[in-house]
Parts: sequence; structure tokens; C-alpha cells
Amino acid sequence: MSDAAAAAWAELEALPRPDLKTLFGDAGRLTAWSAKLELPGGAVRFDWSKTHLDTALGAAFLKLADAAGFTERRAAMFAGEHINVTEDRAVEHTALRGVGKDSSVEEAHALHMRMKSLVEAIHGGALGEVRHLIHIGIGGSALGPALAVDALTRDGAECDVHVVSNIDGCALEAAFKACDPATTMIAVASKTFTTTESMTNAMSALEWLRQNGVSDPYGRVVALTAFPDKAVEWGVDETRVLPFSESVGGRYSLWSSIGFPIALAVGWAEFAEFLDGAAAMDRHFLDTDGLANLPLRAAFADLYYTQLCGTQTRACFAYDERLRLLPSYLQQLEMESNGKSVKLDGSPVGRPTAPITWGGVGTDAQHAVFQLLHQGTNLVPVDFIAAIGPGDDLDPAHHRNLLANCFAQGAALMAGKASKDGARAYPGDRPSATILCEELNAATLGALIAFHEHRTFSNGVLLQINSFDQFGVELGKEIAKAIVSGGTIFDASTEALLAEAGIK
Ligand code: F6P
Repeated sequence: MSDAAAAAWAELEALPRPDLKTLFGDAGRLTAWSAKLELPGGAVRFDWSKTHLDTALGAAFLKLADAAGFTERRAAMFAGEHINVTEDRAVEHTALRGVGKDSSVEEAHALHMRMKSLVEAIHGGALGEVRHLIHIGIGGSALGPALAVDALTRDGAECDVHVVSNIDGCALEAAFKACDPATTMIAVASKTFTTTESMTNAMSALEWLRQNGVSDPYGRVVALTAFPDKAVEWGVDETRVLPFSESVGGRYSLWSSIGFPIALAVGWAEFAEFLDGAAAMDRHFLDTDGLANLPLRAAFADLYYTQLCGTQTRACFAYDERLRLLPSYLQQLEMESNGKSVKLDGSPVGRPTAPITWGGVGTDAQHAVFQLLHQGTNLVPVDFIAAIGPGDDLDPAHHRNLLANCFAQGAALMAGKASKDGARAYPGDRPSATILCEELNAATLGALIAFHEHRTFSNGVLLQINSFDQFGVELGKEIAKAIVSGGTIFDASTEALLAEAGIK
């Protein structure tokens, strides 16, 4: 660690820990720590006032950001420099939104136009009647599309999309049951085009088409990949291979051709709005310095809790059924990006890195896990996400109650309640942040996701780790492959399990 970073951490550790009620004694608290961004899909409020950040902490975190070279690292990412050092790659998901190195933006635009043509050709009937799409992918090749399709198609979709990720055949069978093979297309989404789960599911989907009278199953396949040659070699016609750049990480790939099911479901115009919303957040992140930079501010709060308060988890509750898949999307984004133990130079980080991201939807979660949040012994910083505009047409009482509950939880966590009866006492002083969108639509969703991407990046920069590799997932894959291919001797426990399951 540089001397400046060590000094910044020492300063942070020495600062007094404020309590929330005292912080709200300052009449300027809300204005200082809550901001409304005007974005293409409508305004979004980012209220971090119920976190423990104060002026002194903010100033010390800014020193840490300087010491970690935040401004330079941010510029390097947008300039297309190879900041993913372990894989010697650039990190260019923002170029897909039109913000980045000129040549990368141009290339991304050209690839989008190719994808647009295919989406419009399918909508126009050029590939026959297409009523269903089974989108096969896993991790980043599934979580983003699943979230966006689920969030944006509540009022109907131009194509019925089923995202299948698990190698457990139950997942694919469920999709088969919901689709008519005569009008189904298959999207094989895999950045590497080698992932066992996706390639196995893809073969079974082709077989299902064949067995159900489709004479040319490969003619029903679209491939979404950074390795187009592999898709062609596998049997997909070149005209239906939609490539994207290797510099787009798997968990950042929903903006690329991996977003094909989103565009097919909502139409190109809405997909373009999704990109525009994310681009607006990119520009905010790139052009705003200091504490006014909202993803950076959120990262300061994240680090305050993990580094100075010892929290091991962070929870996100969407008070909006349309965002029910957001917590699982964020799990991959944050934990695969920042669940690391070494710094950019390979030396130990020496402090906690990403907390465990978890969450759910409100109000359901209130009746399941909020007991622990209010009275448990684990401190959990919570994000609430809600929209002022309802997603339903029912009696407005539904939405009024939903929002009232959302805001009540944040207030209760902070205020607490004294009682002589310990079982009925709430300690309070528990942190939360609230993101309140005017409307939830494609553009707002794009901005929300980009906000979290940049928050994750900022956390990584401040910890001096590489947020863009994921070697931790490899060992388990290797062992699974060794087992399937008859493998060597494992430990006694693993051998016994394999024998009992009849695998060996
Ligand atoms: O195993 C982890 C991972 O590599 C993720 O990072 C990625 O999103 C997922 O697998 C799927 O990879 P691919 O898109 O190459 O099939």
C-alpha cells in the first residue's frame, strides 16, 4: 500500500463514528447527502443521508480516492486502457452505451446495428413465425437478460422469452413445456462459447427441436458470443452470430449482443433507451468529481461499513416486483468483481474486500428477514430501491402502501425504539440508503445498473484490486470436469459421495 493510502486509512480509522440521530441534528444533512439526478427515463433520487457518512469521513475517503489514483483509473477505464491487468484486457462495457474510446464506440455501434437488423428481421417475420425465445446462458450471460426482460415486459412482450441457465435439466424442461417448438428460436449466449452448462443445454435444445419436427434445428439458433468462430464451428450460420468484444466482461455484457433477448422482447427502440439511461449514468460518473459523484459516494459508504464497522454483508431490497431479480444480478456483479484477496500487484489486500450481497423484494422480505435487520446482532447496511410511478393498474392503495412500507423501514432502522422489555427494544442507528426513481422504465433501469457497475468499480479502485477477472470460479470447474471424465482420486468424502450417487 502506498504511504498516502496507508495514511488515508489511518485517518479514517481514527475519526469518530457519528450516530445517525446526531447527524440529522444538522439542518443541512438531507441536502448534503441526498441528490436527485435528472436522467433520460425521469429523475432518480439517491438518498445516502441515512448512512453514517459525514463531512470528515467524506473528506478522508476523498484522500483515499486520491491515494488510490481514482481519477486516473476512471480515465483509464473510459480510455480503453488495459486495466484488467491479469487478463491484459481493456474494460469497455461503457463503449456499448456510446461512452468510451472513439474506435471502441464505433465498433460497438456497428455491432449493435447488426443486432438491430436481426431483431427487426425476426419481428418482421423474415425467419418465419417466432413466438418464443429460449435464451441459454449462465452467469453474466443470463442474469442481466433475465432481470431486464422480467422488469420491462410486465405489460406484454414482442416475443415470449425464457432464460435458462442451470445445467439441471429441470430448468430446460420447464422452458420446453412453455414453448411451441414450431415457433421457438434458441439463443446460445456464451462469451467464451465453451461453458459446459450452456453448451450442454444448447445441444439438448437442438435435440428437442429435432424430436419435435423441426428439420433444421441449427437454422433456429442465434449465437451471442465474443468468439464468433467457435459458434460457426459449432454449427450456427454466420448471419445469426452476433459477436461482441472480448473487452466486455461477462457480468457487464448485457449491453452487448448478450442483450439480444431484451431487444427481441421489448423492441429496438426500448433497448436503445436502456443504453441511453446507462450512458447518462456513465457521463455523471465520468464528469463529476468529489462527493457529488454518486457511485463513488456509495462506495465510500460501502467501505465505511466493511472496513470500519466490520460488516460482512450488504442487502438490497427492491420495493418493486419488477426488480425482483435485481438482488441476484447484483450478487454476481459485486461478488464476482470484488470478492478477491490480492491487489493489482498480486500482494495480499490485507483488509476485507466485497461483502456478501443479498436481498429480496419488499414487502415480502419484511415478513421474513427484517427481524434480523432490526434486532439481530449483525449490522447490515441496506439499500432500498423503489419507483414513484406504479407498475400496476390496481387500486393506488397498493402502491401507496408499498412505498409507505419502504420508507417506514429506513426510518425504523435509523430511529429504533427504546423499551424496558429487551425483546421489544430496537437499537436503531442502523444505516440504509434509498434510491427512488420517478418511473421505472428501460432508461431508468439502464441507469440503475450502470450506477451499480460504477459503484462496484469504485470499491475495487479504493481497495486497489482488479474487479474484472474471476479466477476463483475455475478450480471447481476443473474438478467437475475431472470427475466427469473419470478423474483421479479425490478425498475420501468426495469419493464416497461420487460412489453413492453412482457417478464413479
Ligand atoms: O464461471 C464464471 C463465468 O465465467 C462468469 O464470469 C460468466 O458470466 C459466466 O461464467 C458465463 O460465461 P460464458 O458467457 O463464457 O458462458
